[in-house]
Amino acid sequence: MARKLILDVDTGIDDALAIAYALASPELELIGVTCTYGNVEVDQAVRNSLAILELFGRRDIPVYAGPQPDGFEVMEISQFIHGVNGVGEAPLYDAERSVEPASAVDFMVRAAHHYGDDLVIVPVGPLTTVAAAVEQDPAFAERAHIVCMGGALTVPGNVTAYAEANINQDPDGADRVFRACKDITMIGLDVTLQTLLTVVESEEWEKLNTAGGDFLAKATNYYIKAYETTAPHLGGCGLHDPLAVAVAADPTLVSTLPINLKVDTDGPTRGRTIGDEMCLNDPVKSAHVAIDVDVERFLAEFMQRLTGLARETPVV
Ligand code: BDR
Ligand code: CA
Repeated sequence: MARKLILDVDTGIDDALAIAYALASPELELIGVTCTYGNVEVDQAVRNSLAILELFGRRDIPVYAGPQPDGFEVMEISQFIHGVNGVGEAPLYDAERSVEPASAVDFMVRAAHHYGDDLVIVPVGPLTTVAAAVEQDPAFAERAHIVCMGGALTVPGNVTAYAEANINQDPDGADRVFRACKDITMIGLDVTLQTLLTVVESEEWEKLNTAGGDFLAKATNYYIKAYETTAPHLGGCGLHDPLAVAVAADPTLVSTLPINLKVDTDGPTRGRTIGDEMCLNDPVKSAHVAIDVDVERFLAEFMQRLTGLARETPVV
C-alpha cells in the first residue's frame, strides 16, 4: 500500500521537481501540499503549487498555506536561482481552484494523528510550519515521521559557510524540530550536491513536445544556468528537494548516520546543523543524516518517473 505523503514546499524550481517526483511515485500517495516561504513568498508558493498540480492533471490534491514571518523578503540569491516567479520564469497558468481554508499547521497536525505510521511528512523549505505543528501539539513530535531537505553535516553551507538555505531561513524553528521530533531523516547538502542534472537530461523533456515536458525543461534550464554561475565546479544543478521525496519513497537510496541533531542559533555559526553534544551518549538517536547516496539509481528513477509523468500531459 502506498504511504501517505504531505509535501511542504517553497515552490521553487527543485520544489516543482519534487512535486512531480511525488506524483510519479507509486510508493507514495500525495494527500496534501503545504506551502511555506523561502524561494518565494507563501502566496507565490501556493500559486505555483496549484498550477503545477493542475498541469499534471491532479486538481484533487489540496494545497494549504503555512505561516510567513512578518517582514519576510525573498533573498536576492533565491531570486537569482529560482527566478522572480519561483519557477525560472517558465509560464504557468493560474489554477482554477484556490488554496484550502484550513491552515497548513492544522492540516499537518490532524494528518499525523489520523494516519500515524502510514504518513510521511517531507519538508523541503524552511521548517517554520513543522515547528508550529510541534508547538501546537506536543504529541505531533512523537508521532510524525519526517524526511526533510535541509542542512549540511559534512560539507559547508550554501548561504553561509555554516548554513544551508532552508535552515538559514529559520534556525530557531529548525532547532525546535530537530530536538523535539522522534523520527527525522535529514537529506542535506552532503548528498543533494552529489545528485546533479544537466541539459543532456532536460533535452529529453523538451523532445516530448508536451506542456509538462516544456515546463520541466524551461524551469530546469534556468536552474542549471544559475548553478553555472553560483557553483560552476559542480557541472550541473542540485536535485535537493526531489531527493528527499525519493528517499521517502525508497529509503535504501541513501546510507545514514544515526545522531541527535541540533541547530546553532547564535553567533557566526547560526544555522549550522550539528550533533547535540548534550545527547552524545544517549543510546536513542532521533535523527538519521544521509551521508551517501546511490547517485546512478536515483538519477535513473528521477528521469524515468518525471519523463513518464510529463509524457502524459497535453501535446503542444
Ligand atoms: C534548498 O534551498 C532552496 O533554495 C531549494 O529549494 C532547496 O530546498 C537547497 O539548499
Ligand atoms: Ca525548497
